[in-house]
Amino acid sequence: MKNIRFYLEKAQKEKFAIGQFNFSDFTQVKAIVASAQNLKSPVILGTSEGESKFFGLEEAVAIRNVLRKKTGLPIFLNLDHGKSFEYVKQAIDAGYDMVHFDGSKLPLEENIKITKEVVKYAKWRGVTVEGEVGRIGTDSSKLYSDKFEIKEEDLTKPEEALRFLNETKANLLAVSIGNFHGIEISGVDPNLRLDVLKAIKDKIGNAFLVLHGGSGTPEDDMKEAIKMGIVKININTELRLAFSGNLRRFLDSNPQEIAPYNFLADAERVVEKVVGLKIKMFGSENKA
Ligand code: 13P
Repeated sequence: MKNIRFYLEKAQKEKFAIGQFNFSDFTQVKAIVASAQNLKSPVILGTSEGESKFFGLEEAVAIRNVLRKKTGLPIFLNLDHGKSFEYVKQAIDAGYDMVHFDGSKLPLEENIKITKEVVKYAKWRGVTVEGEVGRIGTDSSKLYSDKFEIKEEDLTKPEEALRFLNETKANLLAVSIGNFHGIEISGVDPNLRLDVLKAIKDKIGNAFLVLHGGSGTPEDDMKEAIKMGIVKININTELRLAFSGNLRRFLDSNPQEIAPYNFLADAERVVEKVVGLKIKMFGSENKA
């Protein structure tokens, strides 16, 4: 199997994005991989610190190995928003393919310093590193009833992005361009700041850029962002909503049902459907 770098380069050349789909339960993993398999798409399985503590880092690696072998698909595992060197190191030691160190809430100097340590540790183990500059708001369990306000000062500054990449040598960079984790209650988030993405791109050239907070982001904006150089898009909230909403409805209307293989099967199908829509939207169908 080719490594993640091969697929990121392919995505950049052929202008598609690889979806990172987060999970904390095996039913979600099955749904994500089934969808990728149907559409012959490379796929990244993502776990935040919380998700991986619930699932287990080594358990996630073992499941990735089994599913890779079974499907022959390029399936990669990423630690999403690792907050400390120690936890990122644990994910690398467990066998993750990629790690995201999120030092975006730290002063830039400190963010650069820790990301550099992560890159040093990851490099010799063949692990790809994603860094983050600029502040991407909130978290993936939230539904916002009000308009989500993006502060200008939280957007990624092109010169900081360039300095960060030059000094840390991180392989990918997550940017703040009007995106945020979670989703507005209307189901559609405000437009991306494609002007900011263009300014970043003009400054940094061909580095791999990542869009977090993909749930609810307007489709046309995502497609445009991919054309402009986004090669990885993270999705979580929409999968959580599909999974939990379906389970809730199913159990409410079938109060006698207690067999997990019955009540989870329906939720699995719904997650698979959402993942399939995103894979098609990101253009990664038939790119495995
Ligand atoms: P959403 O929850 O908005 O899809 O964002 C997911 C994400 O960016 C994970 O890092």
